[in-house]
Amino acid sequence: MSPKIDPFVQHFRGSAPYIHAHRGRTFVIMFGGEAVASKAFRTLLYDVALLHSLGVRVVLVAGARPQIDEALSRRGAEPRFEGELRVTDDVALQCVKEAVGATRVELEALLSMGLPNSPMAGARLRVATGNFVMAQPVGVVDGVDYQHTGKPRRVDAEAIRQRLDDGAIVVLTPIGYSATGEAFNISSHDVAAATAIALGADKLIGLLEGEGVLDAEGLPPSQLTPHEAEQLLRSGPGLGHHAERHVAAAIQACRGGVPRAHLVARQSDGALLRELFTRDGVGTMVTSETFEGVRAAAQGDVGGILALIEPLEEQGILVRRSQEMLENDFDRFTVIERDGMVVACAALYPYPDDAIAELACLVVHPDYRTSGRGDQLLQYVERQCDAQGLRRVFVLTTQTSHWFRERGFENCELDDLPKIRRSAYDQSRRSKILLKPLG
Ligand SMILES: CC(C)(COP(=O)(O)OP(=O)(O)OC[C@H]1O[C@@H](n2cnc3c(N)ncnc32)[C@H](O)[C@@H]1OP(=O)(O)O)[C@@H](O)C(=O)NCCC(=O)NCCS
Repeated sequence: MSPKIDPFVQHFRGSAPYIHAHRGRTFVIMFGGEAVASKAFRTLLYDVALLHSLGVRVVLVAGARPQIDEALSRRGAEPRFEGELRVTDDVALQCVKEAVGATRVELEALLSMGLPNSPMAGARLRVATGNFVMAQPVGVVDGVDYQHTGKPRRVDAEAIRQRLDDGAIVVLTPIGYSATGEAFNISSHDVAAATAIALGADKLIGLLEGEGVLDAEGLPPSQLTPHEAEQLLRSGPGLGHHAERHVAAAIQACRGGVPRAHLVARQSDGALLRELFTRDGVGTMVTSETFEGVRAAAQGDVGGILALIEPLEEQGILVRRSQEMLENDFDRFTVIERDGMVVACAALYPYPDDAIAELACLVVHPDYRTSGRGDQLLQYVERQCDAQGLRRVFVLTTQTSHWFRERGFENCELDDLPKIRRSAYDQSRRSKILLKPLG
């Protein structure tokens, strides 16, 4: 029996790979004025400060829509929108300047906090703001004159990079400036997407109000291609204005070359950290990198699985499985498909009475090995176990025991297997039995 590990230690160790992966990366984080006005905003900024202290280059893009609307109502004026876009007349522009200025000051004040009894003790954060976004007027569209509403014309990525190189957190607001010396109100989502693209950021992260992005079944999809995200926008259940603007910015950023956009419901405490430092995250990732995907096998994959495993059966590395067996068992398999080809597979045989499962037939095509696909399948299978309430997984192997041991499996005895599996153990193969406790 391995000694019990303190959950804190386990979590801290589990986050180490992500800490390494994120260091030196550039993340553009966008959130609405609702977040700024909320009580939880301090905590959110603590988490941002933590990211910064771990070496992430952070650009914050803060919206101010509710604050602008409040400033308008104080002046007895009504906010005016055409679709998603504010029509910014002279009064509205004054309100934009007032609200955005106040929001910026609030952010700078909170990021300057270094009180000994706060999580930002000793953080000494430097904040950089400025005229980083050049704007042009939206102009007159379909007969509507948007007046002081603008759109990004150019983002001064070089200037932002310099501030990031200096160790500052860059704060951007929904205002851009024109070469004629005018200020324009720009959607903060447009600012965020344009900035992420111009910087060549590694991630655009949207902190959403409410429950985040939900599909037709009311569940948060963990991953979407830009195309799927677009379909969700068009035919989805109606995501709400706030989420829709975030999704549209995510699509724009991905199409502009940002590898990943994450959409996270900000209300849940620590959501940003959980999205970035845990294996499965908590939000929805929009990425174009899915010409390859892990999925449950379908009947049509049997031929591909056979082609993958036959050479290993011939070498005696795997036990033989007939086509008929595979036809019956295909639903036990998970595959990685790349450009229509099965390049890896794994099978899971649960023994629910013993809360244990057998991982079998884990194979990655020789051309695609040592790129983490074995790990990817193992993680997928472990999640399946978790979902089915299975607390342990075991594997029988003749030549790959070290690969499994390096991933938390330990040698065990035949007696540790479910009774029914023990009798089917082929003594002549002398396979090693390895077991991993889960969760
Ligand atoms: C084991 C296997 C699935 C790993 O797939 P993969 O996609 O290459 O796995 P990963 O990319 O996650 O890991 C690669 C690492 O494992 C190491 N590795 C591969 N085979 C290994 C083995 N037999 N013993 C120890 N380490 C091994 C690689 O050297 C590489 O290490 P490095 O990157 O640290 O240098 C693949 O090698 C395979 O298909 N093997 C044949 C089938 C088999 O033996 N299956 C297990 C029995 S069910």
